[in-house]
Amino acid sequence: MSLFDPGFIGSLEIPNRFVRSATGEFAANTDGTITKLFLPLFSNLAKGEVGLIIGGDLYVLDEGKASHEMAGISQDYHLSGHKELTKIVHDIGTNSKLAAQLSHSGAHSISAKAPSIRDDMQVVPMDHDDIENVIIGFRDSAIRAKKAGYDAIQLHAAHGYLLSQFLSKRTNQRTDAWGGSLEKRSQLLFTIYSEVRSVVGSNFPIILKINGSDDPSEGFSVAESSEVLTKLTDDGLNAAEISGMNPARAIKKSNEAYFSSTARKIHTRIESLPIILVGGLRTFKMMEKLHREFVDFISMCRPFIREPDLIKKFKEGKKSVDCISCNRCSKSPNVVSCMIKNVKS
Ligand SMILES: Cc1cc2nc3c(=O)[nH]c(=O)nc-3n(C[C@H](O)[C@H](O)[C@H](O)COP(=O)(O)O)c2cc1C
Ligand code: SF4
Repeated sequence: MSLFDPGFIGSLEIPNRFVRSATGEFAANTDGTITKLFLPLFSNLAKGEVGLIIGGDLYVLDEGKASHEMAGISQDYHLSGHKELTKIVHDIGTNSKLAAQLSHSGAHSISAKAPSIRDDMQVVPMDHDDIENVIIGFRDSAIRAKKAGYDAIQLHAAHGYLLSQFLSKRTNQRTDAWGGSLEKRSQLLFTIYSEVRSVVGSNFPIILKINGSDDPSEGFSVAESSEVLTKLTDDGLNAAEISGMNPARAIKKSNEAYFSSTARKIHTRIESLPIILVGGLRTFKMMEKLHREFVDFISMCRPFIREPDLIKKFKEGKKSVDCISCNRCSKSPNVVSCMIKNVKS
């Protein structure tokens, strides 16, 4: 049961148990097409033998983009850049797989469209047509992702973006078919999953990134996320990446793998669902322990920004990552990169 052994997400073989969690590249053109700056980022991860690389969030509707540097998959003219990217990863020859993360930023998008009004933010509540457009946006973007040669799709339902806003009682105060009970708050996610599944087919891997619970958990509890995941697992979901609010935290020894306890609770309830754990995984020892216990895949973001060749180094005996979780990379000026790489950690 080594972390270097292959594993499966649905029918897709992943050459080892390491996942690069979605990482916004901050480097697209203003029309959402990807620039040449993306290419070395992805080829270095593939050369570094990352088993599954999840690309940064891609907007599925133009109005759902979060920033002008964010890449899109909402239009056919976005396709050629994605085709180039998937080809580069697949041609490296390390068998790394590549997933497209499909996202709508909701209240954080340039349109500020959200499930319902909020006290803490200026937002525009979505009407029925807006919601229909979101469903169509995810469906059509999934078709494009498959056409572009991605090996899997990840639906982004975490971190307070649109699907996560719909799941949470705190941010979804609608009283129609899309809000209220858990069943109604989950309806948008369930409908999108079912539409995406119908267009990509039963053999194409779909992964969900979801908060194991919100913080504070009154908005969306671990019992509720388990219920949502149980239904989706019954409907053929292939894996869940368990995250949470405030996903990129500072790390001390005591909070390494800070979402592991919620992920463990979810695993106890749904043993058949492959778990990808993200959030502050920093030592090989901890990764091995969690893999022995219940985690199928170990996912990291910031450590791979600093060391795209981390997996090769682990193979050679490296014991922990160099990244110090300072989050300065979140403010990278041109393309996401480690801002303190030359400073000794
Ligand atoms: C610069 C940066 C960009 C990120 N972009 C995304 C993203 O596009 N989609 C997403 O789901 N999470 C994104 N995240 C969150 C990470 O995927 C991950 O959940 C979080 O950083 C915790 O993992 P880590 O401790 O290994 O960094 C981003 C985090 C950082 C620091
Ligand atoms: S800037 Fe900080 S958090 Fe980002 S990769 Fe570098 S060390 Fe890690």
